[in-house]
Parts: sequence; structure tokens; C-alpha cells
Amino acid sequence: MSLGAPGKQRGPILTREQSRLLDRFAMEQYGMSGLVLMENAGRGAVDVLCRLEGCFSPAPSGPSEATQAAAFEPTTRSLLSAAGQKSLMTHGLGIRHRDFGGPVVICCGRGNNAGDGLVMARHLWLRGHPIRVFLWSRPEELSPDAAANYAILQKAGFPIECFPSGHEPERLAPALAEASWVVDALLGTGARGEPRPPFDAVIRQINSAGKPILAVDLPSGLDCDTGQAGQPTIQATLTCSFAAAKPGLLRPEAQPYVGHLVILDIGTPPTLLHQALSKADG
Ligand SMILES: NC(=O)c1ccc[n+]([C@@H]2O[C@H](COP(=O)([O-])OP(=O)(O)OC[C@H]3O[C@@H](n4cnc5c(N)ncnc54)[C@H](OP(=O)(O)O)[C@@H]3O)[C@@H](O)[C@H]2O)c1
Repeated sequence: MSLGAPGKQRGPILTREQSRLLDRFAMEQYGMSGLVLMENAGRGAVDVLCRLEGCFSPAPSGPSEATQAAAFEPTTRSLLSAAGQKSLMTHGLGIRHRDFGGPVVICCGRGNNAGDGLVMARHLWLRGHPIRVFLWSRPEELSPDAAANYAILQKAGFPIECFPSGHEPERLAPALAEASWVVDALLGTGARGEPRPPFDAVIRQINSAGKPILAVDLPSGLDCDTGQAGQPTIQATLTCSFAAAKPGLLRPEAQPYVGHLVILDIGTPPTLLHQALSKADG
């Protein structure tokens, strides 16, 4: 999969308020659990990353399983061996492990945007990719659906590195230095105004690391509706936005922050989308 040149977006566009309504209608009227939407969002973003890295293409002479296992970072290897597995062979759907060239560093805040990042962490891990997960929140402050995904990772024994008392740049720096990709799951459509500490400092550090960045739903710091970039705003290589584009993502001045834009279906039926779109913003 190649992203090609950024193009014009066609299709529905949801404001912040309409996105909130879409989630609410999905849960209250259609009985769709927020966890299902979150799962579809996170897994969809992992599929995009894996496609970009060539994990779905045929492997005529790929590395042996032993070589692949050797490429896993120590945590993943030791968890695999604790589980009595020799290798991780993904879904049997033509997905194969491919070394991204370093761990995917997943940076999470405390809302549902962080929950999407935690789902991404689980699916990348299941597919055998080295990951590091950083959380700028106390676990008890996470939104309920993000907390559920945190608990799954914790019960599975995956280490999540928490920064409850602030930024701690010296802990993040070595992970960024070896990262293949950084996932920005700090702030999503629930954010308003300039990024507050510690997210402002985290965003600056991520931007200055010079690594490809995948923004979850929208780059942290960018206003969902106006496209105004906060000080600072994540400068993403790729933004995976869910259900529909957001107005701010399409503003020409937002382009340097959004990068390539991919809209992912998270399972919400078109009737639901139209219902949310028909509601006046406010
Ligand atoms: N139903 C679902 O599960 C579903 C479906 C699709 C997508 N999503 C994802 O969920 C996201 C929306 O989740 P959400 O509504 O929980 O919001 P969020 O964007 O994850 O962020 C909410 C959190 O950010 C904090 N915050 C707000 N403005 C801030 C600022 N300027 N600086 C620092 N912190 C700030 C809020 O704290 P305060 O309350 O203290 O302000 C709150 O803790 C979407 O973008 C998408 O990624 C979820």
C-alpha cells in the first residue's frame, strides 16, 4: 500500500458535536457498545499501518519464523515464551510479520482516543510487532472504555509505562530514538483549546524526534472543527480518522499537521451517520 499524494476528501464530514452524537446514537439507539467502536477503530488503524509496511503482501522468500522471532523485542519474546508459543502467526488471513525497523511507540492520554491507542497496542502485539506503550494518565482516570482496554493489556501481562505525574522526557527519549513509528493517541475529538501540560511538552518531544507519526482520529492539538493548530500540534505523517472526516482535517492550513488522511469505517451503519449529520451543530 502506498499513500500517494494527499488528495481531496469525498464523503461525509462530522463536526465534533456530530461525532459525539454518532457515538451516542450508536450506543443508545443501535445498542452498539463503545468498546466495539473502539475495537474497530484501533484494529482498523493497525491494518493501515500493516498495509503500509507491506505485511499483507505475499512473502515468496520471507524470513524464517525463527528469524522473525529473533527480531521481536525482548518483552514480546519473553511473553511469548511464557505463553509456551514459538512464534506469533497472526490471523491466517495473509498477514505476516514484517520488521518495521524498531518498536511502534504508542503515546496515550486519558480519553477514548487513548483507548483507540491501547487497542492498537494489543493488535500490533498480537501480530508480533515490538511496541512500547506510554500513558500520561493515572489508570483510574481513564475513560471507561479506555480503562477496559488498559485492563486487558494489563491482564495479558503487557507492560504499560505510566507517567502519572508529568512529562518525564528522559523516559520517553530512548523509546523515541529507536521507534519505527509513533502513534499519537493523546487527544482526539474530545479536546478543546490549546494542549495543556503535560501534553504540550509530550507533543513537542514527539515532533522533534523526526519519526513517522500516525495520528489517531486527528493530530493532537488540532481543532477538530476549525483546523486551527494549537501551540503545539502533532505533525503527523498519516492521520487515521474514524467514521467520517472532520472539518478541521480538511482545511488547507491543517495539511502540514494531518499528513495523509485515511478515513476508516468503524461499523456504524449509514443510517446512523445520516442521523448524526442531520443534527445541527451546537
Ligand atoms: N465510542 C467510541 O469508543 C469511539 C468511537 C470512535 C472514536 N473514538 C475515539 O474517541 C475520541 C474521543 O474521545 P473522548 O471524547 O473521550 O475525548 P479525547 O479526545 O480522548 O480526550 C478527552 C480527554 O482530554 C482532556 N482534554 C480536553 N481538552 C484538552 C486539552 N486542551 N489539553 C489537554 N487535555 C485535554 C479531557 O480532560 P478534561 O475533561 O479535564 O478537559 C479528557 O480527559 C475520538 O477522537 C476517537 O479517537 C471513540
